[in-house]
Amino acid sequence: MYLTREQERLLRGDYGWAIAKAMELLVRVGDAVGAGELVEVKHAHVSGVSYSNIGKYGLDLITDFYRGGGRARVYTTINPGCIDYSGFSRIIDNRYYMEQRAIDNALVNMGFKPVFTCIPYYYRPPLPGEHLAWGESSAVIYANSIHGAYTNREGGPIALASSITGYTYKAGLHILDNRVGRIRVRLDPMVEKYPVGAIGLWIGENIREIPVLSGFKNMGFGDLKVLLASMAASGSHAIAIIEGVTPRKTFSLEIRDEVFIERGDLEDYIGPDVSSRDSVLGYIGCPHLHPFELLRVKNLVGKYGGVKRGGLLITIPPEYLTKFHDIVFYLKSRGVDIATGTCPVVSVFKQRYDVVLTNSGKAAFYLRRIHGLKTRISPLEEVVKYVCGH
Ligand code: F3S
Repeated sequence: MYLTREQERLLRGDYGWAIAKAMELLVRVGDAVGAGELVEVKHAHVSGVSYSNIGKYGLDLITDFYRGGGRARVYTTINPGCIDYSGFSRIIDNRYYMEQRAIDNALVNMGFKPVFTCIPYYYRPPLPGEHLAWGESSAVIYANSIHGAYTNREGGPIALASSITGYTYKAGLHILDNRVGRIRVRLDPMVEKYPVGAIGLWIGENIREIPVLSGFKNMGFGDLKVLLASMAASGSHAIAIIEGVTPRKTFSLEIRDEVFIERGDLEDYIGPDVSSRDSVLGYIGCPHLHPFELLRVKNLVGKYGGVKRGGLLITIPPEYLTKFHDIVFYLKSRGVDIATGTCPVVSVFKQRYDVVLTNSGKAAFYLRRIHGLKTRISPLEEVVKYVCGH
């Protein structure tokens, strides 16, 4: 791989152990995927920071980078960890409090922004064509598809290495020629009323190339966020071309095939019916809620009169606790459980429920696989209505 003089100095260790290690990692991965050079990034988003996922090995790795002098050279945000920062949640277990705080302290001392959220684009919306190094598959696919930014789907160590060097390897979606939509995906009008989480899971699992989504532009951004996150969960997608949404000049089209998604395709992805004997947890906030979605949930909880059976969990960035204090207080007073800076997928449940009812295909996918829970996907309003409407 071609390196500039400055990059060679970074790799040689002239600026310390951590930067040299980070450069070595980027160059090795870049060489493995055939990258010819490194490219500067404007924003790194570091995922893989939840102690319940990365354990002691991950904690030690992050601490080593901190002690070895690693510091953010570019704007860097942090994904959710495994503890509820508000301490109010009755559902999320804070058993790894000390270990998670050790990870967070190392990251914050390295200069990373303590947003603890999977919606980094809320804090710094990327520009079309801007190079990023983001972990967190839901954020990556959102950045590429909605903002027209250029990022691969990175693991936590690569995003961290990019943060402290300011570079990533130029390959994959950093190259315009690789951002080519090849399969057009249309929705049967009957399917449009189906939960977008299930539609996303279907696309993720059944479409192998970059999909071109036709007729999706009237979906709200909250639904698109859930759709894209679900696609990235069940498949390896990092971009979808959404006609009328994805900025022009950040992709090209060579359509070879077209598929229609029909109602019958989605039943298996939605999950089994909920029985009246089941204890049900409604869950909204995967990916974390944007403020306009938080307001929508508040209005729905008000409309249906508060939580009356099972539970309703929402997950949001910690900052909302103070920024949207009135909404948070209102929701809590209506029986909603609020966890900040985390989510049930990357943490541990304190309470067991028979079924998790969620609008998120990503949450359903991982809660089934990792936590072995029964899940069902419903539109957001149906989730609120189920736990509040009786
Ligand atoms: Fe975010 Fe957790 Fe979902 S990190 S995308 S809320 S799995």
